[in-house]
Amino acid sequence: MMNNNNNPNKLDPQQVVAEFKDIPPMPNVMLKALTVIKNPTTGIAELAKIMQIDQAISTKTLGLVNSAFYGFRQQITSINKALVILGMMKAKNIIMSLALKQMMTAQGSRELWEHSIRCAVASEILAKEFKVINPDDAFVIGFLHDIGKMLLNIKNPLKYSKVRYLATQGNVNLVDVEDSQFGTNHCVLGALVSKKWQLPVILTNCIRYHHDPAQSSLPSVCGIVYCADRLVQAQMPTPLLETKVMSKLDFSIQDPVALRETILAKANIFLKEMSGP
Ligand SMILES: [Fe+2]
Ligand SMILES: [Fe+2]
Repeated sequence: MMNNNNNPNKLDPQQVVAEFKDIPPMPNVMLKALTVIKNPTTGIAELAKIMQIDQAISTKTLGLVNSAFYGFRQQITSINKALVILGMMKAKNIIMSLALKQMMTAQGSRELWEHSIRCAVASEILAKEFKVINPDDAFVIGFLHDIGKMLLNIKNPLKYSKVRYLATQGNVNLVDVEDSQFGTNHCVLGALVSKKWQLPVILTNCIRYHHDPAQSSLPSVCGIVYCADRLVQAQMPTPLLETKVMSKLDFSIQDPVALRETILAKANIFLKEMSGP
């Protein structure tokens, strides 16, 4: 990664906070879901209420539960039954994926929301395989990892589309292009959003270091999101996973190309069920 110490445009942390103070609040439905799950005895009934009020959420949840994504044998027709089968954490994650769809699409792009879903599913699969973090928590981290891109887009949509274009040209790194154009990047800003939304510290940490997990105090947890993010890129990065990063993690991936195919197939089922109005 480029050394930004001599980047004259680089903002210091206080300047970043001052310049990017327009952080959208967490959507209400997500806030409500995060609040009710704190009570294990009533949480599931409260989540059912949230889902029943929102037609789109209940229809999509039923679609997903009955899809090949989970592969349950029986047909599930009620939200209550779906919630019992899924469990509170998965149900909460589905609510989150849909609650942020509007915001991510409007303040970022449709592409950002779709990439976030794919990365969430990938993170869950990798966490299950390598057992470095709870898979449901990994889903959340994967889903929110690029949330900082929204702030760059809100700040200056035209400049940000230029950044995205530049990042596709030649051998450049998106984070470096963001740094040179905005004086900061989506990792720093994502951590800011995570803090503002009062999300767990581990989440803020992984968002901050998802492009450079060796810098994190939890390299392997952060490494799950690093791998997930690269594995689901529309344009396959070369190398798919970087040796210098992988050597710092507690797990290894033998055949990343094959894993990418498996993960994308699964993620696309989830995405299909979550799509539509
Ligand atoms: Fe990223
Ligand atoms: Fe990403």
